[in-house]
Amino acid sequence: MCGIVAYLGNREASPVLIKGLQRLEYRGYDSAGIAVIEDSLEVYKKKGKVKELEDLIQKENLTGTIGIGHTRWATHGEPNDVNAHPHYSSNKKLALIHNGIIENYAAIKKDLISKGHEFQSETDSEVFIHFVEDIQKHNECTLEEAVRIALTKVVGAYAIVIISQDNPNQLIAARKGSPLVIGIGANNEEFFLASDATPIIEYTKDVVYLNDEEIAIINRNGNISIKNIEDIAQNPYIQTLDMELEAIEKGGYDYFMLKEIFEQPRSVADCMRGRLVSNKDHAALGGIRKHVDDLVNANRIIIVACGTSWHAGLVAEYVIEELTRTPVEVEYASEFRYRNPIINKGDVLLAISQSGETADTLAAIEMAKAKGAVILGICNVVGSSIARASDEGAYTHAGPEIGVASTKAFTAQLTVLNILALMLARHKKTLSDNQFKELTEEMESIPGKIQEVLDLNGQIEEISKLYKDAKNFLYLGRGYNFPVALEGALKLKEISYIHAEGYPAAEMKHGPIALIDKEMPVVVIATRDSSYDKIVSNIQEVKARKGKVIAIVTKGDALIPKMVDHVIEVPSCHETIMPLISVIPLQLLSFHIAVMRGCNVDQPRNLAKSVTVE
Ligand code: M6R
Repeated sequence: MCGIVAYLGNREASPVLIKGLQRLEYRGYDSAGIAVIEDSLEVYKKKGKVKELEDLIQKENLTGTIGIGHTRWATHGEPNDVNAHPHYSSNKKLALIHNGIIENYAAIKKDLISKGHEFQSETDSEVFIHFVEDIQKHNECTLEEAVRIALTKVVGAYAIVIISQDNPNQLIAARKGSPLVIGIGANNEEFFLASDATPIIEYTKDVVYLNDEEIAIINRNGNISIKNIEDIAQNPYIQTLDMELEAIEKGGYDYFMLKEIFEQPRSVADCMRGRLVSNKDHAALGGIRKHVDDLVNANRIIIVACGTSWHAGLVAEYVIEELTRTPVEVEYASEFRYRNPIINKGDVLLAISQSGETADTLAAIEMAKAKGAVILGICNVVGSSIARASDEGAYTHAGPEIGVASTKAFTAQLTVLNILALMLARHKKTLSDNQFKELTEEMESIPGKIQEVLDLNGQIEEISKLYKDAKNFLYLGRGYNFPVALEGALKLKEISYIHAEGYPAAEMKHGPIALIDKEMPVVVIATRDSSYDKIVSNIQEVKARKGKVIAIVTKGDALIPKMVDHVIEVPSCHETIMPLISVIPLQLLSFHIAVMRGCNVDQPRNLAKSVTVE
């Protein structure tokens, strides 16, 4: 939520900032702005997408080799030009960009107003830069010291970067709860700061991930110092980014979402590489070594996540319990963190997150950690906050996911979770050798089977044409396909704005069946598994009420095609793994419907990719 970028070096800053904002636009796109210093500190900002900002500054002859930029997802104050970042201090000599929330801003603002400060915007962020200005004035201290003092007094989450007209050779940055990466150019001659690595990789692969409550002071002479909030120097740990530029470009596709859907045979294969080898009886996650015994001996595994990652968690509950007989509970992180849950010694908390930055999931981790649980993180973004807050974990290796609607991250999460279940089952001896072999072989066949479903894209596009104007959709599934129904409904509503609900098929008769008439499309995931006969009955119940059924069936099914309006055939596979395949047609269906409705599938309204506020 909100993307921030900053530059200090020898290049013109504004093109670097604009390009960086375009890369970060998936994090928020209500408004955008930049500030650069040449002789004076100038701020340009505009409601709308980064393109609007680009058009605005094209008319200006912007020069300056230091600057900051921001793309916003509104929390305090509606999206408009004034609430857009950067924000000035009163004397317009300081400018700030901020991602996060200053929770005690109202009290600070009241105090500052009593001292004569006037505010232009409704944002908490503007309060922060006035606060810094006020501290510097009254304490007669350096900007660095004023920022440090201000940070000790604010409550909330932040990633900030501040520049000062009085010192156009310095950037001051800090983070707590919101991510911030510092890219270091050759010979320390230039620095790139951003919310994630995507704006940085085309310039340098050497990065430092700032930790919570660290402040970075970056000077044009190449000197970078990192201190904690107590003013104690920290050793910057320089890492090399393992990411290529192509991974964050559209690569010939019109949409990131479509590219990411079609990447899944590769991303699932990448995720399995070296972790699962059927002919060697091998299933292991290298990132979870020290805590394997904790997993094996766990009384209970608690999974916390949000959105699509929560759906992956639901599938994992079914798979882990079936294969390992370890009890699993799945919780929305936002509920779990506020309800004083019972966590006992011997519980393992599994946190699932694509971004690794979701505020509620991070808070759930902190709470469980304080209660003594072992924390294992399953994240896609390397070096993310959740990855670092976990005791151990496994990356999903899906590569950067830019489309706001999660697709390849979901299948990669399912892949890791299946491997985790197999690893655990091996240790607990809850599967026979033959069962283990069968499942690992099935897993290895998944990339090819996903490709078979992707080859049905044209057929799915044709079905989409028939339902693009529907007002509602129902998604039904049972067993392992129930979370897939939830995921299909979420995908459709978030990118096409059609109201959609996912239900366990048997629950339909307890209420949702009242909705069914000839106008209601019902997507039923009815692959051959242990609940097949039951779901056939559910399809009949829908057809008896004239609902339109789009059925996802196993190739060769002779029964369901006779009963329904449309059939999408997917390859057969073991039911524990089927969600990896059965979700693919649902991703394509929502994509095509959204495109046909003229929606911006990569940047749906009101959403942001990384939800760093609760
Ligand atoms: O980065 P996370 O996996 O923690 O994000 C969780 C949700 O915000 C995310 O899955 C969201 O629901 C997506 N928009 C779904 O497509």
